[in-house]
Amino acid sequence: MKKFFRRFILLIIVGSLSACSSSTGVSQSGIQDKGKIVIATESEFAPFEFKTLIDGKDTLVGADIELGNAIADALGVDADFSVMSFNNVLASVTSGKADIAIAGISVTDERKKAYDFSDAYYEAENIVIIKKSDEATYTTLESLAGKAIGAQKGSIQENIAKDQLPDSSLVSLTSNGEMINELKNNQLQAVVLEKAIAEGYVSQNDDLMIADMTLESSDTDAYAVAFAKGTDQDLIDTVNDVIKKAKDSGDFDAWLEKAATYTQSSSSSDE
Ligand code: ARG
Repeated sequence: MKKFFRRFILLIIVGSLSACSSSTGVSQSGIQDKGKIVIATESEFAPFEFKTLIDGKDTLVGADIELGNAIADALGVDADFSVMSFNNVLASVTSGKADIAIAGISVTDERKKAYDFSDAYYEAENIVIIKKSDEATYTTLESLAGKAIGAQKGSIQENIAKDQLPDSSLVSLTSNGEMINELKNNQLQAVVLEKAIAEGYVSQNDDLMIADMTLESSDTDAYAVAFAKGTDQDLIDTVNDVIKKAKDSGDFDAWLEKAATYTQSSSSSDE
């Protein structure tokens, strides 16, 4: 009895010590003990994460969602996607609301100071969308001087617009769907987005086009999975393995192709 008690107390001490040791960042074993991984994401970013009607039900789909499911599989746990505005996604891993974040998040030097990142899984490019009827008017970045330019709140596109369209006025919006609507309604004259996302909107909106002007990509714009600073390396290694496999096997490209066959549900507002 005494022996049992001693063991029991030892277990409690060891348990609480290991819980303390990872106060910043999550541990792989912690996630496995919980039986699920909470993944922060967003829902208006086709082909990476968006909602589509499947059997009459709004369903979260896209390449990032497939990647999240593959990560959960590798860990042997369930994936629990937590949908929020993009400007809350990164903060949610620091606050512990989510274990990891997958939302087309670009790795930047600035973000690396505050977060850990996996290896990159996708290279993006930035472009400007305008209305087709403005094709002859907006031909250069300079031609957008004095005009209202949309970029998603909390995204690197805000900085790109500030740096490369310094004479335009930046309008930051939470939702990409709303931004596209404002462009269609002439409240915005142009929108900065990454090419794959822009192509999705242009293919679904006859009145929009990708402008014939180039944004300089000073550094590369690559997407990676984000973690809180101090996340246990085991978990980052597992995620890197899943990413490597998905890229080498062609799965990631297949996920993007599958996503392109779905129609994005019109503007859903989350949080
Ligand atoms: N790649 C850009 C960034 O990291 C935009 C990402 C927006 N993602 C989204 N799901 N809305 O800032």
